[in-house]
Amino acid sequence: MCADLPVVVSGIRATGRLHLGNYFGAMKNFPPLQDSNRCFFFIADYHTLTTLEDPDDLRRNLPEIVLDYLATGLDPKKSVIFAQSSVPQIAELSLLLGMITQFALLERCPTFKEKKDKHPENINLGLFSYPVLMAADILIQRANLVPVGEDQLPHIELAQYIAKKFNTRFGETFPIPEAMIEKAIRVPGLDGTNKMGKSDDNTINLNDPPETIRERISNAVSDTQRARRSDPGRPYVCNLFALHEFVTDQGLILQIKSDCEGAKIGCVDCKRMLSDSVTAFLAPFQARRAEIARDPSLVASVLGEGGRIARETASETVETVREKMGLVRY
Ligand code: ADP
Ligand code: TRP
Repeated sequence: MCADLPVVVSGIRATGRLHLGNYFGAMKNFPPLQDSNRCFFFIADYHTLTTLEDPDDLRRNLPEIVLDYLATGLDPKKSVIFAQSSVPQIAELSLLLGMITQFALLERCPTFKEKKDKHPENINLGLFSYPVLMAADILIQRANLVPVGEDQLPHIELAQYIAKKFNTRFGETFPIPEAMIEKAIRVPGLDGTNKMGKSDDNTINLNDPPETIRERISNAVSDTQRARRSDPGRPYVCNLFALHEFVTDQGLILQIKSDCEGAKIGCVDCKRMLSDSVTAFLAPFQARRAEIARDPSLVASVLGEGGRIARETASETVETVREKMGLVRY
């Protein structure tokens, strides 16, 4: 890996198994970046703790996500793959950056507002300072590019604000990171909401077997106004049609659209075709994943080596930041 290449950083929380939303919204863009950038891809286990329910879930999910990363084509020889908490320097940088981040900006952050409304019983400090920790993830590696889904844009803007503020106050230190979003992608959920999300029980997971895919899709919410099969359907308001657009061949999509609008097919037919498309789409990924999972020591060795490399650059950045802010190591 060459030091002059642009630096790419991205992470995914270990709140569950990865799903089609994570894949199309973010992960799909990771592997092609590996050849012409210095890439850091991590599992955001500290961030996972902001909504943690059971530590065993975290312990179980994290290695599974590493297998997903590897099966989508991330190569530990090309990318640094690590667990966020194995780089404790990130926590220190987050503390330091918090000193220059205005309370009101965090309070206005749309993702904080969403989480606050969704989990009124658990509005913790970690949730509030989530974007500062995320800025630390990005700035600690002096990232130039951050490939993420569009829902993460407010966080990237906050990281930019923090980087600019630090540079102005303490001298040029951080590149201003740019979000990398090919086009605004939002994979809808199976429950009729507009976002598939790990904590919402509305997902198709990358490693779901065909029976699970079929069962989950057959129970999914479609166009709620289409009461009878003889009613014309409205593909453009239907979540399941939106899902077809990610996994089904273009020709078949056009056919489904006109057959749905003309009431030639019902939701049951559409769901069956969607299950077939999703199953076929995921098959090569699942075969690669099964092959990779045969080596039981792989995940630990990838994360061990990745953590070591990530800590090296992270320590350098934290030393610089400490010095610039007037901290002396005694
Ligand atoms: P989740 O919302 O399932 O907990 P994360 O918050 O860990 O997932 O998101 C990991 C990445 O996947 C982020 O870049 C996010 O923007 C993207 N992502 C998650 N869900 C979707 C979705 N339904 N559509 C598009 N992108 C998504
Ligand atoms: N907040 C991101 C998400 O929910 C995960 C994340 C944490 C991240 N730190 C990051 C993404 C740094 C990109 C860069 O998806």
